[in-house]
Amino acid sequence: MRITIFGSGYVGLVTGACLADVGHDVTCIDIDADKISHLKDGKVPIHEPGLETLIRHNLEEGRLHFTTDAAEAVNFGLLQFIAVGTPPDEDGSADLQHVLKVARTIGMHMQDYKIIVDKSTVPVGTADQVRATIAETLSERGAELAFDVCSNPEFLKEGAAIEDFSKGARVVVGTDSERVKRAMRECYAPYSRLQDKLIFMDVRSAELTKYAANAMLATKISFINEIAHLAEHVGADIEQVRHGIGSDPRIGYHFIYPGCGYGGSCFPKDVKALSHTARGLGHESALLEAVEAVNHRQKGQLFNKLAQAFDHDLQGKTIALWGLAFKPNTDDMREAPSRTLMESLWDAGAKVQAYDPEASDECRRLYGQRGDLTLTRHRDEALEGADALVICTEWKAFRAVDFDVLRDALASPVLVDGRNLFDPDTVKAAGLRYYAMGRGDSV
Ligand code: UGA
Repeated sequence: MRITIFGSGYVGLVTGACLADVGHDVTCIDIDADKISHLKDGKVPIHEPGLETLIRHNLEEGRLHFTTDAAEAVNFGLLQFIAVGTPPDEDGSADLQHVLKVARTIGMHMQDYKIIVDKSTVPVGTADQVRATIAETLSERGAELAFDVCSNPEFLKEGAAIEDFSKGARVVVGTDSERVKRAMRECYAPYSRLQDKLIFMDVRSAELTKYAANAMLATKISFINEIAHLAEHVGADIEQVRHGIGSDPRIGYHFIYPGCGYGGSCFPKDVKALSHTARGLGHESALLEAVEAVNHRQKGQLFNKLAQAFDHDLQGKTIALWGLAFKPNTDDMREAPSRTLMESLWDAGAKVQAYDPEASDECRRLYGQRGDLTLTRHRDEALEGADALVICTEWKAFRAVDFDVLRDALASPVLVDGRNLFDPDTVKAAGLRYYAMGRGDSV
């Protein structure tokens, strides 16, 4: 099958590489000429485990192509996936200008029947806007061509995207056309594990499903963080509570890990966008707004705990920070709790010495050279001359720590653990002051 993918960002590249890998013929198009020229050489601009190998292999096999030529791309595939960004507008709504620009491009260049597949996370009603934009562009050209628009939201997790693509929990397709259903079945047919997971529904339900899934997951996180907050005040241990509630299969163990707040490009943006949709309909979503507010408070907890440990005077202190990415196995720092912490520390006159296995370049790109930020090449180098250590991301390499060495390396033996990685008794026995999330007397 011939497939075109608009947008060579995270979602577009993973989708393109995975579909090419099972034998489809895929062309990826992006407006960023630099990016495309690097991709043609097999250089991938993002860190996603397995992606570069997959892209290189399929480039060599001749099944994956990259271009900036719109006419060539539009006339390549029967399926035209739209996987461009939908960043939040100032008011929290999703900005659809890139999606609608692609729709115009398709309308301008198409010569025969096309199926347009919305892959980007877009508000309910976007497929209708895409349809109207293409119809308008075709009519400006005086062309009468048939096309369909369907919704096929992605449910990929950064760091596990390739596995998620081939073994995901479901493939949602929003369409009322039998022709589209046949084509989408053919597209996903090579993935035997997905065959009984194709869920067809109407377009608007598919669009809402994506937001509902992310909002539900974000709600679980804010819920457990809220209970963690209470646990600190009543002298309970959230980790024990987590085990206690997770054992009920109706609740389950997944996605109830307390921490320093959710980040990334999806949850914060999608919760805001859904809230905005609700508000636009005259229905304030008290629940979604609370989810966001709890997350905001949670991201501030790391700084609050440090401030408390140093009697609210962090001026001139050097804080070691392990983990800059919003979660492990990615270099993505969008909405990462580490950023809220660093910015508060700088405001309070402290210096940061940070280590992350993958995100140092991204951090440099975001904050540039500054006297109060040092990025180290090794985990323990970040401890040199530091007063305290804060852990923001649960990278595997942070899990085994010699607490005696850590205590001796830090000027004030303070450990703030934003991910509850350690047993409080073990840490305290080594003479460290341990501040975890929701763990009773460690507040
Ligand atoms: C999320 C969803 O999990 C995907 O299903 C969805 O496709 C994707 O958004 C998207 O919309 O594109 P992702 O943002 O990659 O994927 O990251 P997650 O692994 O879901 O983690 C999100 C945040 O929640 C991280 O900051 C993580 O640390 C935090 N988290 C997660 C917790 O604090 N506790 C948990 O129990 C789980």
